[in-house]
Amino acid sequence: MTLKLVYRGMLVHSTRDTPLEILKDYLLGVDSKGKIAFIEKGENVEGLSKEWGFHTSDVIQLEQHEFLMPGLVDTHIHASQYSYSGTALDLPLLDWLNTYTFPVESKYKDLDFAKDVYTKVVRRTLCNGTTTACYFATIHTDASLLLGQIADEFGQRALVGKVCMDCNSMVPYYKETPEESMDETVRFIHELLKKEYANVKPVVTPRFAVSCSSSLLYTLGEIAKNNNLHIQSHISENKEEVKLVQQLFRDCRSYTDVYLKHDLLTDKTVMAHGCYLTDEELEIFHEKGAAISHCPRSNISLASGMLNVRKVLNNNVKLGLGTDVAGGYSPSVLDALRRAMDTSKFLSMQDAQLQTLTFEEAFRLATLGGSEALSLDDQTGNFEVGKDFDALRVNMSVPGGPVDVFPGQGPKIILEKFLNLGDDRNIVEVFVAGRKVVPFTEL
Ligand code: GUN
Ligand code: ZN
Repeated sequence: MTLKLVYRGMLVHSTRDTPLEILKDYLLGVDSKGKIAFIEKGENVEGLSKEWGFHTSDVIQLEQHEFLMPGLVDTHIHASQYSYSGTALDLPLLDWLNTYTFPVESKYKDLDFAKDVYTKVVRRTLCNGTTTACYFATIHTDASLLLGQIADEFGQRALVGKVCMDCNSMVPYYKETPEESMDETVRFIHELLKKEYANVKPVVTPRFAVSCSSSLLYTLGEIAKNNNLHIQSHISENKEEVKLVQQLFRDCRSYTDVYLKHDLLTDKTVMAHGCYLTDEELEIFHEKGAAISHCPRSNISLASGMLNVRKVLNNNVKLGLGTDVAGGYSPSVLDALRRAMDTSKFLSMQDAQLQTLTFEEAFRLATLGGSEALSLDDQTGNFEVGKDFDALRVNMSVPGGPVDVFPGQGPKIILEKFLNLGDDRNIVEVFVAGRKVVPFTEL
């Protein structure tokens, strides 16, 4: 096996046992298939060069304030809402959907409009270090396929969902009939799988229980099961929504029970928000191996609620971070990480017993936790031999950068500063499956 890349310098990542492992002066080799071939101490360079057949002069040496970290995983983002991110944050969820979201999403019938927004969101998230994104598109099959094509062309790892919704839209021109929703979902999955993109896959996407009839939910559960597909939706984001779901699904014990009964809670399911889930519901998530996407920026912006991450982690439920653009206004997973830490601190002000999230734990949620939440942790999320090389090269001394580093500040401080103060200027290179996707080579 020939090698594509060898880096030498500091590596930071999470493992199953520790939220932060710092490897100072290590060598990381990437093979021609984009997989991590070895991770070894720097002092072994001579031996490794013989074993793997590379010249020591080809090794890329990281600078003093540089490090490699795993790529960021956005477990929940509405690509279609990117056009109005940073605006329209003055209404609670259900009004916000009908007033702002559904009218904008209806525009994706127009493939030129879709191409423009989808290109921009893929580029923007890649620059911000999102190597894996779990996307909601819209109800439009062709535009959703286009999002898959654009993610593939730019080299982003992505799950792409054509949104399904056949009820309770107050916008008459933005909903589907049950038959349309089912048929178009089947067409979307079939067409996307036919492309055989290496790192872009379909995800079955009922918008949320409010928007879907029971028969549509059953069919989507069946489609996911028969094709072994990922599933994504929303759950328990806002109190009014939880109440409405109770009224709409009277035979179900809880919001979680709605998805459970329709076979939509599997070990490939990721549900966004979950602010109001009870212990009993979290237990069901744990049993099923289903995950939660924590979207703290959106939870604050739409005044939806606050997820208690400690409770979720204590229940051994898989957890990742989501930007939830455009309910969340930032496309950056670093912003989601910061707001996750803020939310944890807000909750600890109300409960002194609550252990706040550490920055190391937040780092894990943004990387390995996200890959676990998407059941992609066999391929990505940290630096392990055999996994794909999905990574960021971070330079904390980049000219014109947003952060100053001072003498004596070691690796852990440098990482903490990046997580709290860094931005896309510090992310000098981004790799997905060994391919350098940032800086962009114009397509
Ligand atoms: N629940 C159903 N649809 C949506 C959406 O588009 N955004 C958010 N934040 N919640 C939802
Ligand atoms: Zn969402």
